[in-house]
Amino acid sequence: MLSGKRILLIIGGGIAAYKSLDLIRRLRERGAAVTPVMTRAAAEFVTPLSVSALAGEKVYTDLFDLTDEAEMGHIQLSRVADLVLVAPATADLMAKMAQGLAGDLATTLLLATDTPVMIAPAMNVRMWEHPATQRNLAVLRGDGVSVVGPNAGDMACGEYGPGRMAEPLEIVDAVVGALADGPLTGKRIVVTSGPTHEPIDPVRYIANRSSGAQGTAIAAALRVLGAEVVFVTGPAEVSPPEGVEVVRVNTAREMRAAVLAALPAEAAVFAAAVADWKVIAASDSKIKKVAGALPVLEFEENPDILAEVAQMTEGRPTLVVGFAAETNDVIDNATAKRARKGCDWIVANDVSPETGIMGGSENAVTLISGSGAEAWPRMGKHAVARQLAARIAETLV
Ligand code: C5P
Repeated sequence: MLSGKRILLIIGGGIAAYKSLDLIRRLRERGAAVTPVMTRAAAEFVTPLSVSALAGEKVYTDLFDLTDEAEMGHIQLSRVADLVLVAPATADLMAKMAQGLAGDLATTLLLATDTPVMIAPAMNVRMWEHPATQRNLAVLRGDGVSVVGPNAGDMACGEYGPGRMAEPLEIVDAVVGALADGPLTGKRIVVTSGPTHEPIDPVRYIANRSSGAQGTAIAAALRVLGAEVVFVTGPAEVSPPEGVEVVRVNTAREMRAAVLAALPAEAAVFAAAVADWKVIAASDSKIKKVAGALPVLEFEENPDILAEVAQMTEGRPTLVVGFAAETNDVIDNATAKRARKGCDWIVANDVSPETGIMGGSENAVTLISGSGAEAWPRMGKHAVARQLAARIAETLV
């Protein structure tokens, strides 16, 4: 997948540096060569010996190492790779990158490079959320740097929130997406994801518990296989993946318009949990609380985007995939839904509370197609996404 590609991996000085050792292994497993560079602080967390042993290459640490300069100048070193990957990217490194400082080897390489740069930030949640870091992040994105993670979760410092470095496999996926050609190269795929918010008035809305995790993972997996992905997302908890065209919407109607505008496409995957109903004549001003008088909301049906696209007579995507979240008679209901909507596949799952699937990290799905129902074992949402993307690739060739 990454054979013939070289990654210049800059390891910053944070506790997440231990994950960079695994990252090196994973990159090499996929055929990439890794040239490691460590900041001085990184060497306080992992040893250069471990890094070079795993990379199978010399570690570069110091700008003024004359042997290195004789072997390979820092300008040359900055140009050897297909991608410069900074993992972990600490708050300090991000700030230096945003400023264009070049006080050590890592930052000099980052300033001198003419290859794409990707960062995997990792830091304490307060540091991540600090306006200074967010400002630096915006500057870096503006400079064309791609960003993977950070994830939310428990932190080594005992706090909770966004700031954990993305897992090595997520970083590898982003690298593959950025570098590799795959079976879906040149194919355009629309993916919907997340919930929709249907307004009641300017401050209130009707929503559902979809996190957007499965749709996001599917978009990322399709991107990894080379697809040009248009990602139409409602207000989801999970951030959109790197390398896709993101279209943010709130309501089902906006989602429909965005999907139709994104066509034509070879495939469309409808993973969004679209609200079935909208409030008729949502109020333009905040509905006042009046003692003893409850507001009465009247609903009308939202457009069924999946059914509309699946039943297009002209310009229908070759493959239209819907989802069916059910709590009972999963296969029967999903099979009926496939026929009713006119889509090619339905990915059905049981979202009964006891399964822990809604909002969780795992999923157990059944793929329903013209040739019947195929139950997949329970696995992570990323694994479901990879398997589904591989199927889509087989079908579209
Ligand atoms: O809500 P329902 O069970 O009908 O959802 C099944 C599939 O239809 C999902 O793939 C969902 O994304 C899609 N859908 C849609 N527009 C709607 C409702 C559902 O595209 N208004």
